[in-house]
Amino acid sequence: MKQILDYMTWMFFTMLLCTASLSAQTDTAIPKLVHKNGRYTLLVDNRPFLILGGQCGNSSNWPAMLPGVWQVMQEMHANTLEIPVYWEQVEPREGEFDFSQVQLVLEQARQNNMRLIFLWFATWKNGSNHYMPEWMKLDARKYPNVVGKDGREVDSPTPHCEEAMLADAKAFANFMGYLKQADPQHTIIMVQVENEPGTWGSVRDYSKKAQKLFEAPIPPEILTETVCKELNVDKKSKGTWSEVFGERADEYFHAWHVARYINYVVQAGKKVYPLPMYVNVALRDPLTNPSADQYESGGATDNVISIWKAAAPDIDFVAPDIYLRDDEAVLKVIDLYARPDNALMVPETGRSTKFLYSVLAKGIGFSPFGVDQRRNASPDAVPSRSPLAAEYELLKPMGHLLAEWSAEGKIQAVVEPADHAEQHIDLGSWEAVIKFGGGRGNQPAVERRIADGKALIIRLGENEFMGIGTNCRFTFNPIGKNKGKAWQYLKVKEGLYDESGEFKTVRVLNGDQTDWGGPQIGETPVLLHFTLTTR
Ligand code: DGJ
Repeated sequence: MKQILDYMTWMFFTMLLCTASLSAQTDTAIPKLVHKNGRYTLLVDNRPFLILGGQCGNSSNWPAMLPGVWQVMQEMHANTLEIPVYWEQVEPREGEFDFSQVQLVLEQARQNNMRLIFLWFATWKNGSNHYMPEWMKLDARKYPNVVGKDGREVDSPTPHCEEAMLADAKAFANFMGYLKQADPQHTIIMVQVENEPGTWGSVRDYSKKAQKLFEAPIPPEILTETVCKELNVDKKSKGTWSEVFGERADEYFHAWHVARYINYVVQAGKKVYPLPMYVNVALRDPLTNPSADQYESGGATDNVISIWKAAAPDIDFVAPDIYLRDDEAVLKVIDLYARPDNALMVPETGRSTKFLYSVLAKGIGFSPFGVDQRRNASPDAVPSRSPLAAEYELLKPMGHLLAEWSAEGKIQAVVEPADHAEQHIDLGSWEAVIKFGGGRGNQPAVERRIADGKALIIRLGENEFMGIGTNCRFTFNPIGKNKGKAWQYLKVKEGLYDESGEFKTVRVLNGDQTDWGGPQIGETPVLLHFTLTTR
């Protein structure tokens, strides 16, 4: 008997060990971006994944800072941390690499059940070279900056420096090689290459070397169909940059060369380990077509996305950092970057959650910037629950479904306009009417000071919808083939998705909760499941 027991114990532990070593080596599918019918899905572990992210501060990837980062990420219910990796830190001496800090982040991310997007702060960080290693900064002749029109150096590395490009590509390839062997579990789901590349303070490089290139004929491969269409250029055009592109030639030239440079770096990294890679963008005002000296020239601003696509086919997408405040401008940016040839992801934004649903309806992810930088907080203060935490808590368990529905074009979102006017969403034989302000039935809405309401609707079937909202009220109108018919709710369920991804009904709304103009939602986001019927 004892022998049998010993044998069973031995078997049990052997099986346990096998399972443990299997899971330690888990070699899941590499994250990838898939494209169908003009929309994108990020697949993580082969499943649609919605990035509910947070980006830490620029100087937070240090051992002493990480506990605060994880704490706030947990409080936020985020699923992905965007965190920088500094070239100056990983290659302190030329050709000597140290990825110990990367390893630390990786281990802690797993302990915190968080996915990672590493931000490769290298040649460009907000248009400057500040994260180049010291051995490069000390050799300004070899690694020069842009020269402005007035002949003076600008605080921005030139994209015409092959030595810098090769050095960046080499370091990046080493970094990606490290990630490949250190992360068979795919904790890291994407990499941002550079940070807001381009140049502030000069539209392009006016050095001798750059000038010569500028006065040479354009590279023929720039004239893709999209470039010709969007920039209104004849496909057969030949000539110098100015001859082909006229008054915006300086900016297009700079964008082309910045994008070529980064594409080279991306190629080098992808050859080693092909994770999805993107480049973030310091935006220009999308409504007024300002001249290029008003914003960071050379980055993938909305007017040069087609040039970036032509110059940098290996970059998966360009991603807008949204710090604009004006509703119209923000909604325009969302439209301009959610293109059939570009996945929408917002890697940086302010604290407002107003446009969260508008981004999720069309994109693969959302991430506010500087989440661990709590202004005026005493070190031991208990952080108050942020509005974003309530949003992420509701959305996270249904993230894969939202990613799927977004890719299928089933989600539509609206935000409360400044005049609080109700918004309409066409759902085929129904229209959702979203009201803001909190008025009861036909009574006038109570004027609220800030227009921060928002809602999204998911079309699950002809008469079946899901809605999520804050500071709004949902109701419906029969339209299309239902037009003119009487109707009523069949059922309105308030609920949420649990950790296993199942919808759980919290309560059925009826009576006062639906009779006076539809269910009303306050500051805290609520998920509603509607079935409607005509009579
Ligand atoms: C945009 C940059 O990409 C970030 O790294 C950071 O510098 C923020 N601006 C600061 O607001």
